[in-house]
Amino acid sequence: MNPEQAKSRIGELTKQINYHNQLYYQEDRIEISDFEFDQLLDELIRLEQEFPQFLDSDSPSQRVGGTITKEFETAVHESRMLSLGNTYSEEELKAFDERVAKGLGHRDYEYFCELKFDGVAISLVYENGRLLRAVTRGDGTKGDVVTENIRTIKNIPLHIQCEDVPSKFEVRGEIFLPRKEFEKINTEREANGETLLANPRNAASGTVKMQDSAIVAKRRLNCYFYQLLGEDIGISTHDEAIHMIEKWGFNVSPTYTKCKTVDEVLQYIDSWKNKRFELPLDTDGVVLKINNYEQREELGFTAKIPRWAIAYKYQAESAESVLLSITYQVGRTGAITPVANLAPVQLAGTTVKRASLHNANEIQRLGLFEGDSVFVEKGGEIIPKITAVVLDKRKAGAAAISYIDHCPECGTPLQRKEGEAKHFCPNSKSCPPQVLGRIEHFVHKRAMDIDSLGTERIKTLIDQGYLQNFADLYELESKADQLLGLEMSQDQYQKSDDGYLFIALPKALFALTEGLSLSAIQKFIQSKADQPLKEVLSSFEVFIRTSNKKVAQNIGTIKKLEETLVSSHLPQMEDHLPVAIVLHILIGNWISLEKLTAICLHENTVHGILLKLNLPLSSEQEERIRKMKANTFQEGVITNMLEGIRVSKNQAFEKVLFALGIRNIGENTAQLLARHFKSIKALREAGADDLLAINGVGETLVHSIQEYFKDPENINIIERLKSHGLKFETDNANQALESENLKGMKILASGKLNHFKRDEIIDFIESNGGQYLKSVSKALDFIIEGEDMGPSKKEKAEKLGVKLVSEEEFLKIAGKKV
Ligand code: IVH
Repeated sequence: MNPEQAKSRIGELTKQINYHNQLYYQEDRIEISDFEFDQLLDELIRLEQEFPQFLDSDSPSQRVGGTITKEFETAVHESRMLSLGNTYSEEELKAFDERVAKGLGHRDYEYFCELKFDGVAISLVYENGRLLRAVTRGDGTKGDVVTENIRTIKNIPLHIQCEDVPSKFEVRGEIFLPRKEFEKINTEREANGETLLANPRNAASGTVKMQDSAIVAKRRLNCYFYQLLGEDIGISTHDEAIHMIEKWGFNVSPTYTKCKTVDEVLQYIDSWKNKRFELPLDTDGVVLKINNYEQREELGFTAKIPRWAIAYKYQAESAESVLLSITYQVGRTGAITPVANLAPVQLAGTTVKRASLHNANEIQRLGLFEGDSVFVEKGGEIIPKITAVVLDKRKAGAAAISYIDHCPECGTPLQRKEGEAKHFCPNSKSCPPQVLGRIEHFVHKRAMDIDSLGTERIKTLIDQGYLQNFADLYELESKADQLLGLEMSQDQYQKSDDGYLFIALPKALFALTEGLSLSAIQKFIQSKADQPLKEVLSSFEVFIRTSNKKVAQNIGTIKKLEETLVSSHLPQMEDHLPVAIVLHILIGNWISLEKLTAICLHENTVHGILLKLNLPLSSEQEERIRKMKANTFQEGVITNMLEGIRVSKNQAFEKVLFALGIRNIGENTAQLLARHFKSIKALREAGADDLLAINGVGETLVHSIQEYFKDPENINIIERLKSHGLKFETDNANQALESENLKGMKILASGKLNHFKRDEIIDFIESNGGQYLKSVSKALDFIIEGEDMGPSKKEKAEKLGVKLVSEEEFLKIAGKKV
């Protein structure tokens, strides 16, 4: 590509990426997948690296992060970030309005009303149109400088090019994590065995203070702005300020309004009471502010809060319901979560039927008894919670809830680790939801990327014994014959107490007859719901006659069924029939009822029984039997699935490492470890010190890694995966070093570098023979001093006599031309 072409492609990519960002952040819509978006961004970054003369400081590539901040610097706010007085009552709001009226000598005034966003307050300072600094609220006087993290938020303007932009100004607003993103992160965290984030606000505040801005960039934070500060901006109302910042490109929630009286304010409050739950973020009230700046000045401040504004907070809505039962969910990591099933009740605009109970402590704290009347409340969390028991309504003789002690999925005794609130099922190897969770993680797009294997298919393969762990996936190919016709669901089957397999009546009658549709049979059976089986079958004969389809043959078959049911001495089940009897009527020429009955004791589906029998059935018999089965795996699906599994063997080592699902090894950590160690062997042999020396690796991770490799079953799985050709080393593991220019040197980089991202500098040092150390110590040969290197680090380096070199000097030492 020549420079002219590169320039035009960079322009095109920038436009496309900005368009998709705008769509996502402003309109909550997407037109392309995350993967396609990342590809556009990767192409842009590559081109900008190759043609740095076309890199614009506004480019979307400047938002991918990559800087590491160990300790945030603090900055003093030019004017204090005040809090607001707040109230929950209409009376107090009216009293506030009276104080305002009195303070302004009963002249006219108006309120500007906004929602109160539940996020993290932020102040952004701009100079000459460029974002200079982003600072958290802190204690109101001074906060943390988090500019690098804030730059990654896609809709925060980095460079404003409007004519009326003052040379210096400040905007304030609220950073938030959209609820949808919050749920997505928690789903991923659960699959990775990480602790869940409590609510979107905590998640946003944790994200703003993260050390690695590359991770912040992936979290899709968003921001609403509601304040403009600065001298000589030439405006006299908040209304003008809001329109001005909107014009400059700041995101303003379109939910604001102006009100002339307190009654109008109350109407606004009422209109958002339920509608606010449809917004993409949590809100907890309304802020009303005097619109006119001169009037604000007249009213002034108390010691802490303005007299010209107040927040009205919505009461967390509460409703009364009855506890019907408790379901214990087993998460994909084995954690048990009790969920209360409630009599349906209306709450904040939705029907609530379930409430989260978190853990055994919570049940105890509430003092919950069976059948209790309870109050439910919808707070910041997604699922409503029970806040109290109505003791007066407790039924006489009701028992306290006793927590389960065995896993509801696999029956294993539950455990509870010291200091942990949740019980968990220790049977990680064969408890079905845990096996499912691990396999789902393994096939995930960002791990082995086998997209032909959705949850339902994996579940089927687990339930029917084909998968116990993900290494089994690579053995499915040799069982392709058995998979054809495998039933996707076992819902239609039941086992009697002594283990005989039964099938739902409509399915059985559908297979036994000809010319009748399944839906007609189902309707007929529903209409006889309360009658005993014997009567249902004799009315079915009447039904066959009226339907007038192959009457003699169908009635003959049903008569045979009735006789066999009587003579066989098999147990009876009301709306199910023994599979052995139904099958015997269909294929009795090949096998006796006794033999079929014996086989049906050990199998869970018709498909399983047929595999065992391996009979040369006629095509008519096959057709009749197919009618008994649930939805089945067809040839196309199987080919597709096996192809996906085969192709996944090409996934890079870092993806495989992530796919293994080692506790605390998320996508980024897998990448870091794979690049550092280059093979599973080296990772396994690494000592705690080797691991801890890597930037970003802490004690918890070291512990997880060591525990993982201690388990012989894990080693066995790795060996099996290896034997199927999965990659357990990086493709360039055996490549020679790029150079030995940094041989024997111990180096640390601090602050933002221009030529490298975080992982790149480590790779670069190592591939040129050097060693990267993660903290300032005497052992260092030198520190590469990036932009904004922290003063405390500098001081420490000076004290220890460690040399600082600029990035340019370093490149010279490494023999790299720039
Ligand atoms: S105005 C002096 N407007 O609430 C007034 N604040 O309790 C400055 N907040 O720290 C704040 N939504 O973090 C304002 N629409 C809104 C707001 C809002 C949320 C937060 C903000 C502030 C706190 C005050």
